[in-house]
Amino acid sequence: MSRRNGLVISIDGTAGTGKSSVGRAAAEKLGYGFLSTGGLYRALAYTVFARKIDAANPDAVLKTAKGLVFTFERQPDATLKMFVDGEYLGDKLQLDEVGQTASKISTYAPARAVLTEKMREAGRDGGIIMEGRDIGTVVFPDAEVKIYLDASAEVRADRRVKQLQAQGVPADYEHILASIKERDLRDSTRAASPLKPAPDAVKIDTSAMTMPQVIDAVIKEIHKHAA
Ligand code: DC
Repeated sequence: MSRRNGLVISIDGTAGTGKSSVGRAAAEKLGYGFLSTGGLYRALAYTVFARKIDAANPDAVLKTAKGLVFTFERQPDATLKMFVDGEYLGDKLQLDEVGQTASKISTYAPARAVLTEKMREAGRDGGIIMEGRDIGTVVFPDAEVKIYLDASAEVRADRRVKQLQAQGVPADYEHILASIKERDLRDSTRAASPLKPAPDAVKIDTSAMTMPQVIDAVIKEIHKHAA
């Protein structure tokens, strides 16, 4: 399939495997856009919370999802900056509670279908790396390059602790590890589009790799396709 602006490249995997850092860096090298699709689930979770909607009510969440207008603005670092109803939500989306609620509401198939359509619109013309859980399996099963990143829960918790400490935020390893395991279990066992590698995805275990090594491995895979 040929798309106007280039390939669609999917990077799926568990939380904390470096999907965003790797995707952004690879997109910058390729001159592609980069979209972290968890942001759409987080934005929905945040809106549900801000409007005091019951997150346990799939119909109310679906109605909210349908009403959201997403727009994206390409930044110099390749990131597609996301605006929700014209507003940039920024760091508010990174709160752990928002991530947990996003994981919960992402079990609702009808709300997923709405957000999936928005992702397809954003990637339709190609020239994009999209990071998420089901990009290679559901959102773009015809993506030209599919990557699946994984790492042990302990390594991911350790990375998260270091990341938070670098930001001056206190972090408790055991709490973070438990939260990662809880989210992994829910994301991979839900009935609607569970987290799993596409049959044609290239799987990379990043546990013992540095970020530059993972970026190199991903770029190599992309070049194999382009060669
Ligand atoms: O990648 P993240 O932590 O920002 O994602 C937040 C939640 O959104 C994650 O726990 C599961 C859900 N999600 C999803 O179901 N499908 C995607 N493509 C991206 C995220």
